[in-house]
Amino acid sequence: MNIVLLGPPGAGKGTQAKRLEELRGLKQLSTGDMLRAAVAAGTSLGLQAKQVMESGQLVRDDLMVAMIAERIAQPDCAKGFVLDGFPRTVQQAEALDAMLAEQGRGQIDRVIELAVDEPALIQRIAGRYVCASCGEGYHDLFRQPKVRGVCDRCGGKEFLRRPDDKAEAVAVRLEAYRRQTAPILPYYQSRGLLRRVDGMASPAEVAKEIDRVLDGA
Ligand code: AP5
Repeated sequence: MNIVLLGPPGAGKGTQAKRLEELRGLKQLSTGDMLRAAVAAGTSLGLQAKQVMESGQLVRDDLMVAMIAERIAQPDCAKGFVLDGFPRTVQQAEALDAMLAEQGRGQIDRVIELAVDEPALIQRIAGRYVCASCGEGYHDLFRQPKVRGVCDRCGGKEFLRRPDDKAEAVAVRLEAYRRQTAPILPYYQSRGLLRRVDGMASPAEVAKEIDRVLDGA
């Protein structure tokens, strides 16, 4: 099964995609994580993406399409995947359909939109941080480590905040979602693939609703 999670920054795409990978064995493909890894490794893609990402704008379609086409062709995607952060433009959505057909990787089976309120998003994004060693996610208000300043998972003591989680960049990211990504919704709606889930519920409730959608209830 191949799934797309859609929703504005902070809607919970990464949170739910990780769970779908753990529980259903669908490979999580987060284009944001891939780009951040490319930036950290200083690859040519990373160098091209760094400033664009920090400003909150979208990286060029041709770069993103090439990156995801290469990733989907890997054997660990054969059983299915969850796209988290791709497609983000109608052009990317069209390219995705074409690459799946070309690679004989089936089609997109379900698109889930996580619907959320903007003020909640800003609070979610502004408070989040991750362990610098293992990447475990935390939040100033919703999820602190059990021992202050020590990662629950690996014992690490350094934490990072994303440069694009600053208020100015978040405003640009939300605008990019409204202007460039939201027009994908009718693209999938017209194909009968789109389902809307209330992303304002707790992570566990959102997960339950996604399960209901995927299990066809
Ligand atoms: P990306 O990394 O994809 O960022 P994003 O879409 O802005 O999404 P986030 O990671 O901020 O949020 P999320 O929806 O995954 O929410 P999360 O689960 O973390 O992209 C970054 C940049 O890369 C883009 O701006 C662009 O420059 C570039 N890029 C990436 N893909 C691209 C593409 N295809 N084309 C062009 N450019 C691209 O949750 C957020 C917080 O809320 C967490 O703290 C979490 O614990 C908490 N939370 C989650 N769910 C709930 C809940 N139900 N209730 C309460 N809190 C919750």
